[in-house]
This record gives sequence, structure tokens and C-alpha cells, in this order.
Amino acid sequence: TAIQRADYQAPAWWIETVDLAFDLDPAKTRVLNKMRIRRNPDVPAQALRLDGDELNLARVMVNGGGSSFKMDGNQLVLENLPEGHEPLDLEIFTTCSPIQNTKLMGLYVSEGTFFTQCEAEGFRRITYFLDRPDVMAMYTVTLRASKNDYPVLLSNGNLVDEGDLDDGRHFAKWVDPHKKPCYLFALVAGKLVAREQKIKSRAGRDHLLQVYVRPGDLEKTEHAMNSLMHSVAWDEARFGLSLDLDRFMIVATSDFNMGAMENKGLNIFNTKYVLASQSTATDVDFANVESVVGHEYFHNWTGNRITCRDWFQLSLKEGLTVFRDQEFSMDMAGTPSARAVKRIEDVRVLRTVQFPEDAGPMAHPVRPDSYIEINNFYTVTIYEKGSEVVRMQHNLVGRDGFAEGMKLYFDRHDGSAVTCDDFVQAMADANPASPLTQHLQQFKRWYSQSGTPLVKASGQYDPTACTYTLTLSQSCAATADQPEKLPFVIPVEMGLLGQDGAALPLQLQGEAVTSSSHTLVLTQAEQTWVFANVAQAPVPSLLRGFSAPVVLEYDFSDAELLTQLAHDTDAFNRWEAGQRLALRYALQAIRTQGEVASDVMPAAFISALRDVLRHPTLDAAYKDLVLTLPSESYMAEQLEVVDPQRIHAVRESMRQQLAVALQADWAWAFDAHSDTGAYRPDPVSAGRRSLTGSALLMLCLAARDSSDTLWPGKTYQRFKDAGNMTDRFNALSALVYSGATLAQPALERFHALFRNEPLVIDKWFSLQAGACDRGGNVLPAVKQLLKHPDFSLKNPNRARSLIFSYCSANPGAFHRADAAGYVFWSDRVLELDAINPQVAARLARGLDRWRKLAEPYRTAAREAIARVAAKPDLSNDVREVVTRALGKD
Ligand code: ARG
Ligand code: ZN
Repeated sequence: TAIQRADYQAPAWWIETVDLAFDLDPAKTRVLNKMRIRRNPDVPAQALRLDGDELNLARVMVNGGGSSFKMDGNQLVLENLPEGHEPLDLEIFTTCSPIQNTKLMGLYVSEGTFFTQCEAEGFRRITYFLDRPDVMAMYTVTLRASKNDYPVLLSNGNLVDEGDLDDGRHFAKWVDPHKKPCYLFALVAGKLVAREQKIKSRAGRDHLLQVYVRPGDLEKTEHAMNSLMHSVAWDEARFGLSLDLDRFMIVATSDFNMGAMENKGLNIFNTKYVLASQSTATDVDFANVESVVGHEYFHNWTGNRITCRDWFQLSLKEGLTVFRDQEFSMDMAGTPSARAVKRIEDVRVLRTVQFPEDAGPMAHPVRPDSYIEINNFYTVTIYEKGSEVVRMQHNLVGRDGFAEGMKLYFDRHDGSAVTCDDFVQAMADANPASPLTQHLQQFKRWYSQSGTPLVKASGQYDPTACTYTLTLSQSCAATADQPEKLPFVIPVEMGLLGQDGAALPLQLQGEAVTSSSHTLVLTQAEQTWVFANVAQAPVPSLLRGFSAPVVLEYDFSDAELLTQLAHDTDAFNRWEAGQRLALRYALQAIRTQGEVASDVMPAAFISALRDVLRHPTLDAAYKDLVLTLPSESYMAEQLEVVDPQRIHAVRESMRQQLAVALQADWAWAFDAHSDTGAYRPDPVSAGRRSLTGSALLMLCLAARDSSDTLWPGKTYQRFKDAGNMTDRFNALSALVYSGATLAQPALERFHALFRNEPLVIDKWFSLQAGACDRGGNVLPAVKQLLKHPDFSLKNPNRARSLIFSYCSANPGAFHRADAAGYVFWSDRVLELDAINPQVAARLARGLDRWRKLAEPYRTAAREAIARVAAKPDLSNDVREVVTRALGKD
């Protein structure tokens, strides 16, 4: 049954202190939970109802004596507790079986080491508790385990005692100096080693930083440790937020449902976001490590010190923390152009994943109104759109105003569990004169309304009056969850370019000249602005830096877009102009009947792209983004009816055209950007590697239809000789994606080289599952790989690397006219659901957009979803996703 945001009630009981003692054993772990509890005086007296899940209850005691209790479903109910407001001592003794825990929620075992994952509702799988984020308590934790098997015993806070016990066992006692909700509890026990670093914070306090991994992985932790030190320094410098703990630990596990978890002082990470070495990790991996380490660290303030009142407020901590990690990555990247590259990458994720989510059956506001399974709401809407909503506030109050708002937010709410409204209110109150405050109630619609607004722009130049009139209108289509939408507050940063591309000064009629960029705040359904003293018909550059998460429509001519592509001073819109042109030609070709042409893009566009590729000063990373065509899923979003094979064929043809038409330029680009210096994962040299990687693919594609083996041969050579994983993997990908005959030997060699590197083997699976389909060959290959000795469905990274790479990232191979891709998908969803519902539910999202599909895909997709839905004992997770997908008809 669905849980409603409107039903929120404060807890009837508070838990003040928790004293947990664990006797760790994989088959049967014993947990003694002693709590000091107290009635909430603000709420009418009620029974105490504690959450539990898959626990064996052995004993309940109140104030040292026996007590009556009953079970109501999964809840342990104590009805006859002493009246009054005196604190009570409640003691609960349970056991659980970590080794059988394949859901990876609660306490589980991964490669012989104990880990926990409690967010959102995993703590109830460890002990009976008020498993809700607004119940914050002080924790003391004692861990006991075999010293030989589990030499390292970790929990939140400070280690206050440790020692040996009988029978080869030992113990460690941890006290967390901060109160916290139970979703931030963590323990780790196993054979681990740590990289350590002592630091002194700005405030002069000493801290010990540790990164724990399995022995043998230690040399892959340097980058994570550096990222952590940078994160600590950045939060102090940018927001005045210092580390509030003596000791801060990161622990890596190879079995993890998500990316990482911000448990207080004891972050637990997927190895994918900790381990990085030049020979096993790509530049993208290095960047991801930095960003996720930052993200989890920044949660220490935005999430842990101030947490969520209930799970509907999830974006309070996630949207804000994503905003912070994005800003961190941009500040670390340094140059304006590297910042722009990061911004473009973030926007690309938003458009290719979040926009579809917002238009599909799982559409929900940044602050949802209801859910069945909260784990289904760790979405791109909560995270990435949530971050955009914070970014708009940042832009409306300015950088300094935002810092003031953060300060007020902490002054008001430090140590408590609050709502999204509380955050916006603090931002507004700290900036009384800002447009945010002026339109506060309306701005909050970004939290309550789902859907992607559409902004239509039109401009009119009057050459006699020298005025330019810009009209913006907004609308938002009904979403699966909400029929009606009211106008949003939409900041539209803009500038005007002359026909030669030069920036024009901006002067709103009746006002002074501003700089060449200005933010218009659209609040009504339609609004008009008049600019004075405009000497020539301008090219408008709208929604600069992607100043709001909307779709912008404007009837640009090709010539206007080419002007922007060549000259816009806003790096985002310069890139955007190229994307608009590419999308325009792609959609024309998709809508045209018959064979796909080999010259989908006109010569003028190709030549403009050549100019970017050959540009003397633009960064390589930026060039690479401009020369990358919009994704198939982004193209699909623009269409009412989606024929995935047609889209795939058109994009392939466009890429082939770029490969052939720019062949000499790609060869030049490869030589000009081939790095010879020592490996460093900085944005500039990473950009050079990414451009040379694209060049290799293009050169292999261009060679595809000829007997020319020069570039495939060179690519194989580079694959063999590469001094780092980025160059090696890019070369391998070029061979695989171009269907070169050398792809097979290269794949075999790659596997042999990295058979003992799980994260690299993930790449090996993923590359093959994502390969370009030739005559339907990918699905049989994927099925074969399911039987590979290295494959395991229980390991989420491995399952994602093979199954998700095929079902969710390879539309050309997945959408088969014979429906075999969908049948494969439904089989895997069902198979995974029995092991790990959270991962299964993610995979189940893969057919969200089935309604848009053309026949025969549409009917076949619906049948596959119905087949999943028909399974009687489905998890809540998967049931919610497929029920929403099927909708009401
Ligand atoms: N709070 C974590 C993060 O954003 C994500 C944890 C999600 N876990 C889950 N089981 N849904 O870093
Ligand atoms: Zn987070």
C-alpha cells in the first residue's frame, strides 16, 4: 500500500540513546539492542510500534524485567508500557543471518567481510527500531568477532575501547559523538587494510582520514584519499563547513546496490568509486571517484547534521548534495572551459535520463507525494533535477546570497530533521530582496509539480526603433501523476549576438546597460521584454549555462545556429547550437521514409564541426563533446512515436558521415592530441585522451567499408601498448564498435590481462553487451556471457555490466522485431527479483517508455511487462514499477 506525504505524523516515542552489541557470525549474528526511550509529549499517548524485517526475536525486556508484546505484521508492538514521561530502558535481543542476505540491505557479508547498508529502511533488518529519519539518537556500539577472520572492527564515531576475548575472539567499542537517524548507522568487520592520512583543518583541529580496502588494493586508493582531502578543504573554503569528527573512514566493498553511502564517519562505497589506478581505471572512473567521494563527504553536513524529516524530503539532502558535488568538481577542474565541460556532461544526464523519467510512468515531483517502495525513489529526478532546483536558487540569489542562505539554514536547523520547505525558506529569508523571495510560493512549485516545462521563445527586431522584443511563454504537459500544472519561476539567462557573432550590450528598455549576459525571470504563462539600442537584428542566445531544467523552443535558422556554434561566448550554448543542428537533421531523416541517406547532415554543418575540431584554442574535451551526436534516447524523447531501429540507423549513418567526411581531420586530431607525458587524470590531459579515443573510433569506422587496415591495425597496436586504461579501453572500444576483425583477439587479450581485476572485467562484459548490433548478434553473445564463469547475478556491478548494458544502454540491439530482447529482459527481472529486489526494480525501469514505441515493439514490450507483473510473489519494488508502467488501461 502507498505511503502518503500528507499522512506524516511526529513519532509517538523518542529514542534517546542506543547501545548495540553485536556477536558477529555469518550464519547467525546476535544483536543486543538496549535503548533509552521516552514518550513524545507533543503527541497523544500511543503504543510503541517498532519496525523489523527478517529478524528472529529472542527476548524483550522493559526496565530490566519481562514485558508483554505482540507482533502486527512486521512490527513489534508494546502496548502496556508504563505511563508518564519518564525515560524507559528497553532491551531487545534478536538474531539475523548476514550470509543469507542477498538483498544487500541491513547486515550482509561480501567476500568474507561484514558490511551494512541502512538507507533508506535497512536498519530494521538489523534490530527492531523506529526506523524513520526524524528519530535521532546517540549510539554506542560494541562489536565482537573472531580476531582471525575479522581483525578490523569498525563503526561510527570514535574507537573508545578494544581488546581480546576468549576463544580467539576480540571486541571493539565505538561511540558516535553526534546523534543521528538510524539510516546513518554502519558497521564493518573483516580483513581490511587502510591508507591513512593525518590532516589539520582550517579550524586547527586534527583529523585522521582512512580509506579501507582489501589487502592488495591499497595502491589503488591514492586518488580516493586525495579526493577526500580536497573535499574537506573545499567545504571549509566554499561554505565554512569543517569536519566535525576526529576520524573519517571510507570502506570499499565490491557488493553494493548503489554508488556509496554517507554513514556518519564511516562511509561505505562501491569499489567502483574508490579504487583507481592508471592501469585499471579510466579518466571517467577517476572523475567519478572524485565526485562520489565529494558527494558522500558533503553529506556530512547536508544530510547528516541536518537530515530529512521523512523520506518524501529525500531531495532536501540529495538535490543539495549533488549540487555541492557538481560545484566541487567544477572548482577542482579549474579552467572556465573545464567547468563548461562538466556542466554539459551534467545536463546531458539530465536530458537523456531525467527528462524521460519526468515524461514517463514513474514521473514524480522533486518532493514526491506518495510511494510504495522508497528505494524506487532514489531517482534522477530526486538527485539531478533536485540539484537543478538548488542551482536555480543559487542563480536567483547569487553566489554570496547562496552562502548566506546556507549559513541561515544551519543556524536554524543544525541537529534536526527538516523539510524541503525549510531549506527554500532559509534561502529566501537570507536574501529578502532577491527574485527568489519575491516569487517564493511560486518557486516552490519546482518541488511539488512533476514534468519538464516547455519554454517557447520568439523575437522581433524593429530596425527603425532599434528595439528587440523577446517573448517567452511557458507550459508543462500533464504527467502520469498530475493532470494540471501551474506556471513555474524560470530563470532564463540570455545574451544577444550580432550577425558576426560578437556579443551585443544588453539594455532593457527604460533601464541601464547591463553586461552582455542577463537573467530574465519568467513567472507568467507569457511575458515580453524589450531591449533598446540594438543596432542590428540579433541572434538570441537563450538559457545560457542551462539556467533552468526546461525544454527551450525557438525557431532558429540554420545560419543562426552556425553563428552560435562558431562564436557564442557562452560555452554551453555554443555546444548546444551544434546539438540543435545535429538533432534537427537527425529528426528530419528519422521522419523521412525509405533508406537512410548517407548524407543526413549538410556540408555547411560538417564544415562547422571541422572548424571546431581543428580549432587552435578550444579544449580537447570540449571539442569531443561538440563532435558527439545527441544520444538515441534523447532523439527518441523528441518523437511521438519511436522506432528504435530507425533512430539507431540514422544515428549510425550520421556517425559514419562524420567519420568519412572528416577522415583527414580525425587523423590530424589523433596525432595532434596524442599525449606523451606521464599519466595524470586532470581534465586537460583527460580531454586529449577522450578526443584521441573518439578519433580512433572514427578512423576505424571510416575504414570499415574499405579494405584499408591501417587504422584498425594502429588501433590494435595502441590497445596493446597503452600505458593507461583510458587509452587501452578507448582503443578496444573502437575495435568493438567498428566491428573490426581485430576486436575478438583484443577482447581475449584484455580478459587474460585483467582476469584478476573485477572492475575491469565489468568493463569487459559491458563493452560486449553494448556492442553495435550486426544481424542480431549481440543478444546471443549476451546469453553466452551469462554462462561465463566470471558472471554472477548476485554481484550488482556484474549484473549491471552485462544485463543493464544490454537492456538499458544498447537500444539498437535490445529492441528486436522478434521481441527476444524483451523476453530476455523479463526473464532477468524475475530472476533478479528473487535475489535483490532493488537491483531488479532498476532493471524493470528499462521499458518505462514502452507506450511511445512503434509496432511491433509496443505490443511486445507490453506483453513482457505484463509477464513480469503476472508473477504472484513479486517484491514491492518491482511491483510498483511494473504497475505504474502498465498504467490503468
Ligand atoms: N544516500 C546515498 C547517496 O546518495 C544513496 C543510498 C541509497 N541507498 C538505497 N538503498 N536506496 O549517496
Ligand atoms: Zn547522496
